[in-house]
Amino acid sequence: MSEAQTAIAFDPLRQRKTPRDSEARCALRRRFADRMVERPDLNRRVVSWQANKVQPGLRWFKYKEGFSADLVRSALRLGDGPVLDPFAGAGTSVLVAGGAGRDAVGIEIMPVGARATRAIACVANGLKRSVLEKSGAGLLRALDGGSVAPAFRFPHVRITERAFPAAAEDAIARARAFLNQMKDENVRLVLDFACMSVLEEASYTRKDGQYLRWDQRCGRNLRGGMDKGPIPGFADALRRRLAEILQDAPQLAKYYATRPPRIVEGSALRELPRLEAGSVGLTITSPPYANRYDYTRTYALELAWLGYDQAAFGELRQALLSATVENRSKAQQLEREYPRPAVLAHARAAIRSQAALAETLDALRSRKSELSNPHVIRLVENYFQEMALIIAELARVTRPGGSVVMVNDNVQYHGEEVPVDLILSDIAEQCGFVCEEIGVLPRGKGNASQQMGRFGRRELRKCVYRWRMPESSARV
Ligand SMILES: C[S@@+](CC[C@H](N)C(=O)[O-])C[C@H]1O[C@@H](n2cnc3c(N)ncnc32)[C@H](O)[C@@H]1O
Repeated sequence: MSEAQTAIAFDPLRQRKTPRDSEARCALRRRFADRMVERPDLNRRVVSWQANKVQPGLRWFKYKEGFSADLVRSALRLGDGPVLDPFAGAGTSVLVAGGAGRDAVGIEIMPVGARATRAIACVANGLKRSVLEKSGAGLLRALDGGSVAPAFRFPHVRITERAFPAAAEDAIARARAFLNQMKDENVRLVLDFACMSVLEEASYTRKDGQYLRWDQRCGRNLRGGMDKGPIPGFADALRRRLAEILQDAPQLAKYYATRPPRIVEGSALRELPRLEAGSVGLTITSPPYANRYDYTRTYALELAWLGYDQAAFGELRQALLSATVENRSKAQQLEREYPRPAVLAHARAAIRSQAALAETLDALRSRKSELSNPHVIRLVENYFQEMALIIAELARVTRPGGSVVMVNDNVQYHGEEVPVDLILSDIAEQCGFVCEEIGVLPRGKGNASQQMGRFGRRELRKCVYRWRMPESSARV
């Protein structure tokens, strides 16, 4: 146990036992009780993107689902060898690991995060500041390029219609026209990213909780609508971002350069089986939470900017790890196509013997008619099936003595707690890992306000799990 842990006698058994608590979940909690440790050092700032506000490079794009560079730096001490993040987001793990001289591979399905990672890595790895400065100035000049309207229009999809004031639409179109004729791919990548990173700021929207929130001025037929306050012009927002990039550029090499990470754009369910067995020393990751959060809605403006049309939105939503009520089961497709049947079979077996999960699902099924959306049952089921496969793959690719560090939140539906931390840690142990610690943040997450009204306040654990593969391990 590290000093920072101050070993407060965190007693998971002391947690409120409600009538809805049930046998299998209580048994699982008892089993892991000695490994659940309250960790005051793991505050919300470190476990979220907040601390990245002052990190060169990572501050350019607020990927609010991300964790901080500080968290990754301390996790890197837990093991040596190549680093993997199968849900790499905006690349925090792999950029920091690469900067520390480690080989690093990040898998990320959303092109938004992958684009941000590549742009940061590109500036860190030798893109000349003077070239960037000159091209950036050219881009800014092109934005007030006179009366000729550019041929390009922002490729809106339904959920982005009317997102921008007219002047911003025009400036964005001019930016795209300028980028399209650029020859230097690296400079284009960084400038394209810079434009993407200010779309929200220059729009009538704000990323907020599950959805984009809309300002009343957008001209949509809204019920309510917020007041976003002054909205900067696209050119002003972009000018500030470019200045930030140029300011950070000289020091970026120090942070992220030693080894540029490998970034694979695709689904972890498809890409993990392609990694070699025993090739990873340390996984530092945070998968999507089982909380109905839909990345394609939150990042709709950015996806549309990157050329995603309505059909591509739908496909991407289905390919994401199942965490929304819209996700259909991938089970049959995996059965047909999964290239490593033994790993799939192991994951299935782990799920079948997971009593706490079965109990949670039974409880939800028994009150299906009362659920605000009955598809949350499917969500919970699919989430764990897919996560079990991810964990079974992590067990295969982690070398003996290697570790996994995973950040995740527990969730609750209709007053029924889903102990994600315990269920996933049990699955990890069934796959050959030893769960060394479930580090619990001092303050959990409150349940959603509708649930609070009906079922009382319950803090949901926000945790960082640490699993280790024993030195003498027989892998899946
Ligand atoms: C909690 S975020 C991780 C953020 C990351 N730790 C960071 O610091 O930026 C989870 C990520 O998983 C990605 N994701 C969802 N489904 C995926 C899949 N099937 N394969 C790979 N990535 C996926 C999401 O796009 C999201 O970026």
